[in-house]
Amino acid sequence: MSASDSPAFADPAGTWNRRFAADGYLFGTAPNAWLAGHAAVWQTGQRVLCVADGEGRNSVWLARRGLRVDAFDISDVGVTKARRLAVEQGVAVNFTVSDCDTYAWSPGAYDGVAAIFVQFADPALRTRMFAKIVGCLKPGGTLVLQGYTPKQLEYRTGGPPHVSHLYTEAMLREAFAELDVVELREYEAELAEGSGHCGRSALIGLVARRR
Ligand SMILES: C[S@@+](CC[C@H](N)C(=O)[O-])C[C@H]1O[C@@H](n2cnc3c(N)ncnc32)[C@H](O)[C@@H]1O
Repeated sequence: MSASDSPAFADPAGTWNRRFAADGYLFGTAPNAWLAGHAAVWQTGQRVLCVADGEGRNSVWLARRGLRVDAFDISDVGVTKARRLAVEQGVAVNFTVSDCDTYAWSPGAYDGVAAIFVQFADPALRTRMFAKIVGCLKPGGTLVLQGYTPKQLEYRTGGPPHVSHLYTEAMLREAFAELDVVELREYEAELAEGSGHCGRSALIGLVARRR
């Protein structure tokens, strides 16, 4: 079966709207640990874009740290919950409902991009999305990215069931050749990010800076 044969990939907005329609937050309300561990690369008042931010756990947490945050996601149900989370936590985030390809990316506008578990993208979409991510960073701006490696297919504790969507160090190094790699690491950890990412996980984290 190819990635596009799967209903989850044929109708991403419908699929994610159904997943986010349940009570609670599928990935919790705490930030992703790789992001939280590396967010010190950004200073108060700097501008950060959260790609495919889902129910808002990462964008809201970054806004609480004093960053100016834009965020988008294809799921209007997810963005509605993200807006609610921002209100509850007393912060402003500029949310947009949009898919990756039609989002109004602002070239050279951001001090940072957070791309946390954006592995909905097949190789063609990933190439377009990564180019937009690089292009929207200012010189000196920093990308913080988290994903799963192919070993995650053995754990099945989160992420897409397609090896072509998963990342290796070599692949990320090549994909972000225009950036200087600050840290790139494959590792394993127990995730407890809601019910969506839960249990032993084969992860990869990247921090990389635009020249
Ligand atoms: C695994 S979730 C991660 C959400 C969030 N980044 C987090 O870490 O909590 C993947 C997200 O990608 C969004 N998504 C899927 N396809 C998309 C697309 N083509 N454009 C934008 N967002 C998309 C989904 O709605 C979902 O919120």
